[in-house]
Amino acid sequence: MGSNNVALKAVHLTKTYSSAGRELTVLDDVSFELAAGTSCAVVGPSGSGKTTLLGLCAGLDRPTSGSVQLAGFALEEQSEDRLAEIRNKHVGFVFQTFQLIPTLTALENVMVPAELRGNRTAAARARELLEITGLGDRADHYPVQLSGGEQQRVGLARAFINEPHVLFADEPTGNLDADTSHLVVELLFDLNRVAGTTLMLVTHDTELAGEAGRVIRLRGGRIESDTGKTVDAPVDAPANEPPGDAPVDEPAAGYGR
Ligand SMILES: Nc1ncnc2c1ncn2[C@@H]1O[C@H](COP(=O)(O)OP(=O)(O)OP(=O)(O)O)[C@@H](O)[C@H]1O
Ligand SMILES: [Mg+2]
Repeated sequence: MGSNNVALKAVHLTKTYSSAGRELTVLDDVSFELAAGTSCAVVGPSGSGKTTLLGLCAGLDRPTSGSVQLAGFALEEQSEDRLAEIRNKHVGFVFQTFQLIPTLTALENVMVPAELRGNRTAAARARELLEITGLGDRADHYPVQLSGGEQQRVGLARAFINEPHVLFADEPTGNLDADTSHLVVELLFDLNRVAGTTLMLVTHDTELAGEAGRVIRLRGGRIESDTGKTVDAPVDAPANEPPGDAPVDEPAAGYGR
């Protein structure tokens, strides 16, 4: 698959919640597609649906209607188990709140996704990633012994370990000081450039948004503007992708480390 292939495609995504008999539409008919190897920042006011959109695109949550194609898989057609498998093999996710496992060391946290897929070189690769993120000497520390920025870097190393096809990051620099933030931005875009990983980032950070090739702005659950709109193919055009039932371990597009 060439670099013009689609890594992620959202078609008419809508998410509603009902509470106290009222329907709340938090995402309303959102459609876009990201070419493999590109980067995109999602911006917009608090409550505009950014985290919700990221969760749907990463297969962490299901839409009320609409569909998501990720690395050639139609996510709405997958069982929970298969969705977990697709996430493990194709998706990296950096959570705003880190979500490290408190009873595991930094090294063990980074190893988890690789161990889940039976990768026997997980420890060596995890150590290498901790070196790259500047935490080589903190591998045996538990999350509680690490600062917020250090925990975020452990989260980043964990998101990288399975060499994801698409990396999602929800405000990855939101809790970091300027220097650490700069390091994290560099790491993310190195991965994008060197490994061809497609990046989708939620951010309020202008440095980070400025580095992204495209900016999608949400407001009230709808796309208010999209700098990639004019260059992208129409979302309803048939994409040249493997069928949705392709094996999960099939090499994904745009990833060539
Ligand atoms: N489980 C839920 N039940 C009801 N409403 C929800 C639920 N999850 C999210 N929402 C609502 O959906 C809207 C969008 O939330 P979301 O977290 O996607 O916003 P956001 O753009 O990421 O905001 P922020 O910048 O503050 O992180 C919000 O109004 C939120 O209250
Ligand atoms: Mg959010």
